Amino acid sequence: MAREHRVLALESSCDETACAIVEGRRVLASVVASQIETHAPFGGVVPELASRAHLDAATVVTRAALDRAEMSLDEIDALAVTHGPGLIGALLVGVQMAKGLALATAKPLLGIHHMEGHLFSTGLIDAEHEGPTFAPHLALLVSGGHTELVEVRGLGKYRRIGGTRDDAVGEAYDKVAKMLGLGYPGGPVVDRLAQAGRGDAVAFPRAMIDSDDDDFSFAGLKTAVAVHLEREGLPKTRPALEDLCASFQAAVVEVLAHKTLRARRRSGLNRLCVVGGAAANSGLRAALAEAAVSEGFDFVPAPLRYCGDNAAMIAAAASARLDAGAEARLELFSHRSLDAVGL
Ligand code: KG4
Ligand code: ZN
Repeated sequence: MAREHRVLALESSCDETACAIVEGRRVLASVVASQIETHAPFGGVVPELASRAHLDAATVVTRAALDRAEMSLDEIDALAVTHGPGLIGALLVGVQMAKGLALATAKPLLGIHHMEGHLFSTGLIDAEHEGPTFAPHLALLVSGGHTELVEVRGLGKYRRIGGTRDDAVGEAYDKVAKMLGLGYPGGPVVDRLAQAGRGDAVAFPRAMIDSDDDDFSFAGLKTAVAVHLEREGLPKTRPALEDLCASFQAAVVEVLAHKTLRARRRSGLNRLCVVGGAAANSGLRAALAEAAVSEGFDFVPAPLRYCGDNAAMIAAAASARLDAGAEARLELFSHRSLDAVGL
């Protein structure tokens, strides 16, 4: 059998500069240069600094991915790059780098929607993990900028059925962490503390849990944490901090799981995937995994190392598109929603 498309992809939409090489869904190399240290002192991503850091890292990660895969550009079939959505100055770095590579090598170049990339993170294959093939599923996309429920009926057949009306899940974690003086990004720290605390210590609101739509709202919860801190002051002991984090996490997870599971049942889809940076959340993964057993559906969380932004998922999406006969067609900086991506 002829081997599958070998794609080198770049990702620079936010605060990670990444390059990966895949063959079909198999990851030959995946390199991610994180900018956390650059942005941490500011408590969030500073777009101008992100662009500069991408400029520094773009060639380094590309060289590292080729070295790790022990390949030259001649051995690559096609190039891919995230062309939106994301920070414009950050995207430009990856896109221009990819265009340069395409020009120099005369290889086709595909622009990939960042969120479509996340959808492909569950199916990646590497030494430690073999994800399943892309099949119809309900996807819960949770990251620093997005919280969306998407019905995925096939490649390019995406229907957003709901999502947050205000803050994204990761954003809520980051803001709560900031209030607690826990640094940036807040998700992993709050999650770790939450695991040691009692989720029923503070009664936080479960916004929109009973609404009949598939939407979410996390801004009120963030305010509830702020009001609690104003009244009680910052937690004075480690157990009190753990209890606060656990109570916040319990509120987030309960709403996310409840509405996602209901949407899954209504959709009739037998597979549920969770992808994006906040898909690493231990409470969310545990709640959905438990429901998968009791309700009898297939639960496929992205592997932890592919939850955050990476280029392997972008390359895998491009490879699937090449399989489907996609022409190299770079529509730059498309800020279309996922439903409008099409084939
Ligand atoms: O997908 P991603 O790397 O970048 C975006 O496209 O936004 O997601 C980053 C977000 C951050 O807000 C971070 O705090 C959150 O994902 N995150 C988490 C966890 N790990 C990362 N949120 C909750 N629990 C976690 N364990
Ligand atoms: Zn992302």
